[in-house]
Amino acid sequence: MFNVSRTAANYGNGVCDLFPDEEDVVSPETRELLLFHAGKVGEVPLLPTVAREIMAMLGDPSVGMARVALSARKDPAMAANLLRVANSAAFGGAAPVSSIREALVRIGIEGTKRFLYQTSTARILAVKARPELAARLQERSVAVAHAAARIAQHHGSDPDTAFLAGLLHDVGWAVGYGLLARLPSALPPELATDETRAFATVDALHTEIGATLGRCWNLSPSAVDAISGHHQPMERHAGLMAHIVYAATHVCDSMGIGPVEPPSLELADDPVMQRLRLDRTALAQLRTALKLDLP
Ligand SMILES: [Fe+2]
Repeated sequence: MFNVSRTAANYGNGVCDLFPDEEDVVSPETRELLLFHAGKVGEVPLLPTVAREIMAMLGDPSVGMARVALSARKDPAMAANLLRVANSAAFGGAAPVSSIREALVRIGIEGTKRFLYQTSTARILAVKARPELAARLQERSVAVAHAAARIAQHHGSDPDTAFLAGLLHDVGWAVGYGLLARLPSALPPELATDETRAFATVDALHTEIGATLGRCWNLSPSAVDAISGHHQPMERHAGLMAHIVYAATHVCDSMGIGPVEPPSLELADDPVMQRLRLDRTALAQLRTALKLDLP
């Protein structure tokens, strides 16, 4: 079907679903071991301490931006990043901002929440031994997050949950590969030597690994369901959020943020798009809006 090889280098290139049955490629022992250790990874919170502190303040209307800024200054890297984002094309105003408080005001509460999730997720998606995979995962996850939020808005659903679910939908790839590198002696030896086998294993388990992490991080059930069911939402009778993330991934594919080969189906004819009321006009508007969202 595809003329590209099944390796990590081809993550996001539309080669993810060639093994129909997980049991064909992953033994029950390997699955159990990887999911157990994914739970251990999930013991480290999704958001670092300062980010959690800021997130709590943003949810409290009695807390002003000056206090939030004070907290953000405790993490110099985060503070520098906030200034960079506030002065970027997406948020840039007539004059550049130079204080954290001004940056927070310019980005806004929702924008700051998304910034915190995005920077925290980038840390988790960084696969040290595979920098190219990490870069593609990050680029695609951010694009899918923005697309999912737009689709949720279009459908009258919660854009924040959609953004987070889109951002984390493929986190299982990063953590899966990280575990293969960390646990070579506990796993079948071919997973360390056969790149195709390693790819197929992570491919088959990435949604389960991601859902395990999502539960550890206390994500909402709909976000966990979206991570778990984003490849086949209808076949798996998944909820609305899984349909939204599925649609977001396919919209990104259709914009070239994904597969080598163009989607074989006209996107608007996909039953998932029809369920979400994404006809040709809505999809064209979505692509236009998305180009403005993306860095
Ligand atoms: Fe996926």
